[in-house]
Amino acid sequence: MELGSLRFAFVFALLLWPSSAAARGGDRSPFSLPRRMDEDGGMISRHLLENLPQITDDMLSGYMSNFELEMAIKEFGQRCSNISRVYSIGKSVNSVPLWVIEISDKPGEDEAEPSFKFIGNVHGDEPVGRELLIHLANWLCDNYMKDSLAMTIVKNVHLHILPTMNPDGFALRRRGNANNVDLNRDFPDQFYPVNDMLELRQPETRAIMSWVKEQHFTASASLHGGALVANYPWDGSEDARKEYYACPDDRTFRYMASVYSHSHYNMSLSKEFEGGITNGALWYPIYGGMQDWNYIHGGCFELTLEISDVKWPKSTELPILWEYNRLSMLNLAASLVKTGIHGRILSSKGGHPLPASVKVEGIDYRVNATRTLGDYHRILAPMERYEVVASMPGFQSKSTRVFVEDEATSLDFVLVPEEENSQKLDKIISNYICRCDGKDKLVLVEFLTGTHFEIYLIFIIFIFFLYLLKRKTKFKFLKHRQLPTHKRHNVV
Ligand SMILES: *[C@@H]1O[C@H](CO)[C@@H](O)[C@H](O)[C@H]1NC(C)=O
Ligand SMILES: *[C@@H]1O[C@H](CO)[C@@H](O)[C@H](O)[C@H]1NC(C)=O
Ligand SMILES: *[C@@H]1O[C@H](CO)[C@@H](O)[C@H](O)[C@H]1NC(C)=O
Ligand SMILES: [Zn+2]
Repeated sequence: MELGSLRFAFVFALLLWPSSAAARGGDRSPFSLPRRMDEDGGMISRHLLENLPQITDDMLSGYMSNFELEMAIKEFGQRCSNISRVYSIGKSVNSVPLWVIEISDKPGEDEAEPSFKFIGNVHGDEPVGRELLIHLANWLCDNYMKDSLAMTIVKNVHLHILPTMNPDGFALRRRGNANNVDLNRDFPDQFYPVNDMLELRQPETRAIMSWVKEQHFTASASLHGGALVANYPWDGSEDARKEYYACPDDRTFRYMASVYSHSHYNMSLSKEFEGGITNGALWYPIYGGMQDWNYIHGGCFELTLEISDVKWPKSTELPILWEYNRLSMLNLAASLVKTGIHGRILSSKGGHPLPASVKVEGIDYRVNATRTLGDYHRILAPMERYEVVASMPGFQSKSTRVFVEDEATSLDFVLVPEEENSQKLDKIISNYICRCDGKDKLVLVEFLTGTHFEIYLIFIIFIFFLYLLKRKTKFKFLKHRQLPTHKRHNVV
């Protein structure tokens, strides 16, 4: 009870915040729209928060209804069954299933590959995304045997597509869901405890959160309308001011956003946003957004893409909007395997996969390897030298320097357990025994059980030299492997 009223007081305070603390608040706080909307008369972005005055039946024509969308997803699943899987991540307030299409040559299987997700229709009155995502799925199905980008995505990425996150809002022709909550303000926030009460969170939001925890996405994008720009974290600033608020991976995100804007028909030519990209907080800060939550809690690099100036264009414009965005969508998903550092992290003892974390020197962020296969996928801006550290409790960290070129770099880590000296010796001895025949083994055992301490000591020194020798050879071998070929496969 007390917490509830505290929360209420906090939300109330936020609503009264003079500037833009509750900006992008949409329906939740219609009386506190960001100041910039009154002030600078930005032509494009001013449409973002408004519910359209009225979405007429005329405007609906040519757009799939929720039922038709469900049919389209099911039909897709049947037509392209050998590269896809259709599953639901939950239901909306009004019990509409949130269907997802997974596209991969091995859908539903665990592979040491990155996963990407596209989410459309977060805001009910922004329906372009849900249409384009069905186009995307069908295009991939029709072209993965002949188009190299499509082939790359199907073979090397697990692409998950949620055409609508907010089917109820769509049916009601408004921004919020059936409870009139703006879903892109409903996630836990890093700066303000606005959405920290789990039981007050919307079912659509909860579905996304558990999906992200389960799937281990590498990157993602949600599709919006009302502007033409690729928006990247942070979405909120600590002091609620409208200013550039860089996240640790600012360079990485600017690179990803540029992949989208420069592959787009004319997003990068924007007069309002340099290069067609923007930092979220610089544009206008929001709190409780999905993008920042994904990066902080999901290990997932998410962009918020505004893909059409008009939120609800005539349906006759959909084919051209698809053409404008097609290459961007493909290039963004494919960028997961065309850049960055990828590999597996294994234990030197038995070679089993480790859910270790990977950190890049100078970037305060960790990407975790998966528990099942130990694979990790670290997107990074190319043409740069990085120092990469893999660490795992109970193991010695390992670090190495890599130059990330204009292509993906492969880098596996073999981590050695931290052990007491006596255990280390045990291991060395057992290694030694393994290489001996039965007779030597017997002699060795006699040796150790005897009481000749001096001989024992000499033996240890001998083994230690053997160990050093072994390490040196291994090192040489690695060095040799790292040097020559272009498409390297590094192991450290
Ligand atoms: C999917 O099916 C087609 C034709 O039935 C086949 O040629 C193709 O190899 C299959 N693709 C995969 C990834 O299994
Ligand atoms: C992009 O092209 C569309 C369609 O021609 C046009 O309406 C829009 O203003 C253009 N935007 C930019 C930033 O050039
Ligand atoms: C990565 O692992 C660390 C500890 O091993 C954990 O604290 C962190 O939450 C994980 N990150 C994600 C995104 O799961
Ligand atoms: Zn939106």
